[in-house]
Amino acid sequence: MHYLSSKEELLNLPFMDGDLDLEKRVEDLLDRLTLDEKIKLSAGRWDACSVPAIKRLGIKSFKMTDGSHGVGGIGLIGTRFRKNTYFSVPICRAATWNPDSVQEYGRAVAEEVRSHGFHMNLAPGINIIRSPLGGRNFEYFSEDPYHNKVMAVAQVKGVQSQRIAACVKHFVCNNQDTNRFRVNAIVSERALQEIYLPAFEAAVREANAWSIMACYNKVNGFHGCENKDLLRKRLMKEWGFHGFVVSDWFATKNPTNTEGCLDAGLTLEMPIPIKYRRRRIKRAIKEGFVSEETFNDNVKRLLRVMFLVGMFDDGSKLPQGCRNTPEHQALAREIAEEGIVLLKNEDHLLPLDITTLKTIAVLGPNANKKHSFGGGSSCVRALYEITPLQGLKDKCRGKAEIIKDPAVADVAIIFAGLRHKLHQDSEFSDRRSLALPKKQVELINKTVNRNPRTIIVLINGGPVTMEWLENVPAVVEAWYPGMEGGHAIANVLFGDANPSGKLPVTFPKELSSSPAHVSKRTFPGRENVYYDEGIFVGYRHFDAQGIEPLFPFGFGLSYTTFDITNLQVSKKQMRAGEVVTVSVDVQNTGKVTGAEVVQLYIQDVKASIERPPKELKGFSKIKLAPHETKTVTFKIGERGLSFYDERDRCWQVEKGAFNVLIGNSSRDIMVQEEIEFVG
Ligand code: GLC
Repeated sequence: MHYLSSKEELLNLPFMDGDLDLEKRVEDLLDRLTLDEKIKLSAGRWDACSVPAIKRLGIKSFKMTDGSHGVGGIGLIGTRFRKNTYFSVPICRAATWNPDSVQEYGRAVAEEVRSHGFHMNLAPGINIIRSPLGGRNFEYFSEDPYHNKVMAVAQVKGVQSQRIAACVKHFVCNNQDTNRFRVNAIVSERALQEIYLPAFEAAVREANAWSIMACYNKVNGFHGCENKDLLRKRLMKEWGFHGFVVSDWFATKNPTNTEGCLDAGLTLEMPIPIKYRRRRIKRAIKEGFVSEETFNDNVKRLLRVMFLVGMFDDGSKLPQGCRNTPEHQALAREIAEEGIVLLKNEDHLLPLDITTLKTIAVLGPNANKKHSFGGGSSCVRALYEITPLQGLKDKCRGKAEIIKDPAVADVAIIFAGLRHKLHQDSEFSDRRSLALPKKQVELINKTVNRNPRTIIVLINGGPVTMEWLENVPAVVEAWYPGMEGGHAIANVLFGDANPSGKLPVTFPKELSSSPAHVSKRTFPGRENVYYDEGIFVGYRHFDAQGIEPLFPFGFGLSYTTFDITNLQVSKKQMRAGEVVTVSVDVQNTGKVTGAEVVQLYIQDVKASIERPPKELKGFSKIKLAPHETKTVTFKIGERGLSFYDERDRCWQVEKGAFNVLIGNSSRDIMVQEEIEFVG
């Protein structure tokens, strides 16, 4: 091992030359590392958020931090005590159906990570919302693979635009927190290909994700950290992933052995060495269980990302980063406003008119509750948090009075929902019920009897049942809207922001109608959890079984109305390799400006195997002034019509008729047209 005598000497080494090809820099640095130094770079250290530095070669400590809606505030010591911007949770961002907003979030959170001097954000979490009981559903995007992948790609692009690594997690089928360290997800190849892998694949192929986090659970028998089929074969060989795989925290406790993880392609074990202790790696190589070449490939992947995030470049040339800025706080409010979903609005009770309203009764456990510092590893130590009550006070100051008694108020608003605690919306557990807590249901029923003009605003992270729905004229799903949530909610309630959110997940009428809940075997399972529903996740199941949901996937109201007409297709017959262009006209037929999410679904009219009645293959959000009309265009290629054929282990599209269905929710199809795939 050669000790470098001076900084001068270090700066003259090839890997320090910013003009040199990336791979040459990686190779040069790798060649200079001793085996002990490579082993040091293979596991985290005491602070649970970084990789040790190798001072001899000027390798600084690579640092990473949670979370999914702002820089994380626990566990990872580096950022634990510093304040950050608390954005709306991922399911709220997903409800915007606006990839531009999600990309903007990615850029902003990366600026905050950079401001801490860190290099990676342990997000986005893109596990499919398979069960409405999932404790971490608030941290994920969607039940639909296409919607999920559009959100994932947007966020990864935003984060990495600031030369901060995104770390897409948890690869894969970490769809429950019950028994997450041990549970073995038994999932078919077709369900993997059509439902659970697409967003991860797109994050790699379309957004060039620099890191992937291996999950705790097993997938078809092997833990995420030693699952060679997932890591070395699919992720690296088939998708061309050049970044590095990091374990979830302590996820290597259960996998069988060191060589299994090394051989599978796990580069970095966090937060501390368990399988990747020096003695274990040395023995695995010495006894030929794993080749030094394989080990070098793993190490190279981390070195490559260290170069990509600029650790060897002149700091003045890197994005500077910032946090807790007015711009980030404004963005937090805008995304929250855009992700809020108007579920019911009888007799146009909303928006409220601040000029005529005299008194508002504000009730409910979430009226003045703060949620930022909760939910597990994704929690944020927010600089401040505007509660719904505070938001209403700011809005009504000097205009309307906020009181407690609904019987004498012009309107009553109940802020109901859940919170970040075990068996509600939190990591480490799943929910035990879809219902709101009993006391809240009693409060809702009592209040609506005392004042029929009662509005329910839900602050929560996923579907809830609503046996009280028919008695209530207005319901708003506000998710966990972040530090500016109170202002965002007030702006929506008073019409300063016209709601345009759409549900990224089906709200079932009861749990038993959910595809993952036909038996204990399918959720949460015991040693094994059986994904018996296959590809029929979410609305695919509700449609196939003809089950009426409480609110369907893609649903959301506005303070205006829209018309979707004049569906045109560029050709009625599509040959292999061709693309069909589909267009529709969208008109704002109401009185206020608003945004609509035009959704395109495909239906294979007659297939040799079971296919869902419709599958989302395109969506576009469009803002329109009153009476304005715009044309929205989609392109459908062969893959958009295909299903995954397990027998031939490839994507297939069969000749025959397909319906192109376009609407503003999965259950509100307004126009459709048949095309034929002629092969
Ligand atoms: C956790 C989570 C993961 C998080 C990591 C670091 O257990 O599963 O999402 O990024 O540990 O806190």
